[in-house]
Amino acid sequence: MAKSAAQQPSYDDCAALEAVLAELAALPPLVTSGEVLALKQQLAAAARGEAFVLQAGDCAESFAQCRPDAITAQLKILLQMSLVLVHGSGRRVVRLARLAGQYAKPRSADAEVRDGVSLPAYRGDNVNRSEFSAAARRPDPELLLRGYERAALTLNFVRALVDGGFADIHHPEQWDLSFAHASPSRDEYERIVNEIRASLDFARTLTGEDHPALTRVDFFTSHEALVLPYEQALTRQVPRRDGWFNLSTHLPWIGMRTASPDGAHVEYARGLSNPIGIKVGPATEPAALVRTLEAIDPHREPGRVTLIHRFGADRIAEGLPPVLRAVRAAGWPGLWICDPMHGNTETVVPTDGAGAGRPVKTRAFAKVMLELERAFEVHASCGTHLGGVHIEVTGDDVTECTGGSRGLSDADLARAYRSAVDPRLNAEQALELSMLMARHLRAGR
Ligand code: PEP
Ligand code: CO
Repeated sequence: MAKSAAQQPSYDDCAALEAVLAELAALPPLVTSGEVLALKQQLAAAARGEAFVLQAGDCAESFAQCRPDAITAQLKILLQMSLVLVHGSGRRVVRLARLAGQYAKPRSADAEVRDGVSLPAYRGDNVNRSEFSAAARRPDPELLLRGYERAALTLNFVRALVDGGFADIHHPEQWDLSFAHASPSRDEYERIVNEIRASLDFARTLTGEDHPALTRVDFFTSHEALVLPYEQALTRQVPRRDGWFNLSTHLPWIGMRTASPDGAHVEYARGLSNPIGIKVGPATEPAALVRTLEAIDPHREPGRVTLIHRFGADRIAEGLPPVLRAVRAAGWPGLWICDPMHGNTETVVPTDGAGAGRPVKTRAFAKVMLELERAFEVHASCGTHLGGVHIEVTGDDVTECTGGSRGLSDADLARAYRSAVDPRLNAEQALELSMLMARHLRAGR
């Protein structure tokens, strides 16, 4: 029976869509099956408690942001966060970027109404354009090709940076903080970097060489597998391996709005050999999640499924335990990671500052921190463990989430609000969050 696919663009030119998909299907893959399986192994290690997953990046990448400075800034903050986590927790960190393909967004309403004019909602650069005009909002299949190309350009640059020693701790430009002002997290971060540099210098003096593992790190990519025709066009069989691989990304995930066990997204994911992320939130029925797991991971394969819970600080204590219990009772050890962003989004109307009077989406940093703290507590009390975190962050010095050590208020939001979709943590807030996690991980060892 055909399953219905939620959140799909409605293309008006089927022939044009078919032509684009045929072209995509003939183009080279963006990642390899070997990398995909290596990530699955690392996720299996995280499920056993031997590694911690850091999944982070933009809510939505935009084609315009496919620029060297933006990509470098994004890698840099991921690297810095992972350094704090490794140092604090003594565990390996799996770096999983929301990058090189995070171009399609689910929306709560199909249409957007402004001043009495109703147009299709903006669904990400892979689908249509954000400008509010009928021409811009028409889903355009050509954009799928542009998205594939942007993803390829991004990955090409990331791979070159990583191979060129971007992650070498002796390259100060990668490790120095971009924000100039003094703060306690800045001091703590600098202490950690200096400590690591000193111990590496010591090791080098002792052995006479740099260990390659210290200058090269792995980055994996992930995105929400939303527009199914695109994902399918990049789904391939490879010589000498069984199964089908989505080779547009290492880890495709199923978003909250498309996670029904009866929907087409779950049906699609079942057929893949990739590790799969599944969002879990207040709308998740524990029994339905168990059905989804039974479909996607009937063999309880280590590393196959990453469950990304996003309840919100106010609902996690009540909402998460029944889900943990149901999943465990059905026989999955589960790799659980916490997304403390998507359950804590609110709309505020600043009363002063440049954006006064205009509603804007934000997240209070205190709530983000609180959800994460509660996630550690809930897992501890349920006998499970938190294996990672999933956040929306940018290396740019934005003011999109309020709070943090600089005490950003609603009135600061307009100053540097650049997200086209959800509010992201800035680098400073992200490091503060990493330090909190490092403390918990250390205490839990
Ligand atoms: C997202 O991760 O950007 C997102 C839309 O999340 P969710 O599906 O959990 O709402
Ligand atoms: Co988002």
